[in-house]
Amino acid sequence: MPPEFTSNFVEFVKNIYPSKDTIPLHVASFLPNELEIIKHCLDSGVISTYSQITTEFENKLISLTGIPYAVAMVNATMSLYLTMKYIGISEGDEVILPAISFIAAANSVTMLGAHPVFVDVDKKTTGMDIEKLKEWLTKNSTVKNGKLINKKSRRTLKAVMAVHSLGFIGAMDELQTLCKRYGMILIEDGAQSLGSFSDTKHAGSWGEFAVISFNGNKVVTTGGGGAVLTQHKKLAQKIRHLSDNARIPHQYGTMYKEIGYNLRMPGINASLGLSQLNALPQLIERKKKLFEKYNIFFKGTGYAMLTPPVENVSNHWLNAVVLTNLRERNNFIGTCHQHKIMVSPIWRILPEMPVYKQAQKGDLSNSKWLWERVVFLPSSI
Ligand SMILES: Cc1ncc(COP(=O)(O)O)c(C=O)c1O
Repeated sequence: MPPEFTSNFVEFVKNIYPSKDTIPLHVASFLPNELEIIKHCLDSGVISTYSQITTEFENKLISLTGIPYAVAMVNATMSLYLTMKYIGISEGDEVILPAISFIAAANSVTMLGAHPVFVDVDKKTTGMDIEKLKEWLTKNSTVKNGKLINKKSRRTLKAVMAVHSLGFIGAMDELQTLCKRYGMILIEDGAQSLGSFSDTKHAGSWGEFAVISFNGNKVVTTGGGGAVLTQHKKLAQKIRHLSDNARIPHQYGTMYKEIGYNLRMPGINASLGLSQLNALPQLIERKKKLFEKYNIFFKGTGYAMLTPPVENVSNHWLNAVVLTNLRERNNFIGTCHQHKIMVSPIWRILPEMPVYKQAQKGDLSNSKWLWERVVFLPSSI
């Protein structure tokens, strides 16, 4: 890396965020009228889980994504957990996931007593590499008594969880076909991909269900929050019911017939989210402009950014550049941190961390390649 490259980068980023002493990787952006909206919710006195605002938030999600059902919850991790539990992913089952992503996706599987199996990711999208998945399934699976069985572990391969990392959507039609062929459930972790489309389909349009996160570092935040998106009315109804303590409203009190969960998104969070959802096109426009600025900076430097597939209209949630090798990556990160610019390497390879060391995995050469080269860049707007 030419010596002036990093110092030019430092100056460039400081110019983007001139008022910040320390430049974080990603913090939430708030809109001018947000306090007013939150005050309106406080004044209503209904700030908790029975708030009508949570339902309004869900309706807005439906209209923005074109996915017919949405259920708002306390976060995406528990949205994954509860919905997988309901659709029958249980102790001893296996779920195939990409080897690089934020750990919550794998944790939601483990919480069920199920087991993640990690396959390699695509170098361009950092999402699941479908060719590698095909190879893994051909080599490692067999059908027994109508069930897809992992030849090595003898466990049932129940589902594939695609993760739309960085808001990029990979070849989902192909993945959907593959899952159908193998009789596996397709789940979409779209935590990072609110506002991302592939052609005309929003993230979450292919799976049995998908989740979105509204954590503080996402395009739209509710402080903490998540949602399930699905094409299936009955599934949405059941998840809404279970996430609301399985409460059956009654004229004189409530009735419970089964064990529920207290996971519904409170109204106070939804009110913040609703005002942000109303501004989603402007927020994404700002994200896109930032992505374009970085693109111009890197042009001619010999380094390229990770770029969404051509079919995508991306939310450009998080910007990332591909460097040449591990040493260069570490030096770049070290110098940026000295200048209080909080860049970070891509997420660690999940089965290389102690917590998932025992998990089964395929060939992870692309994951390793990305881990050594990819740096996430400040992406607040
Ligand atoms: C890919 C992915 N999955 C799941 C989650 C979990 O989201 P939450 O923090 O809303 O539980 C995140 C959060 O960053 C994520 O990036």
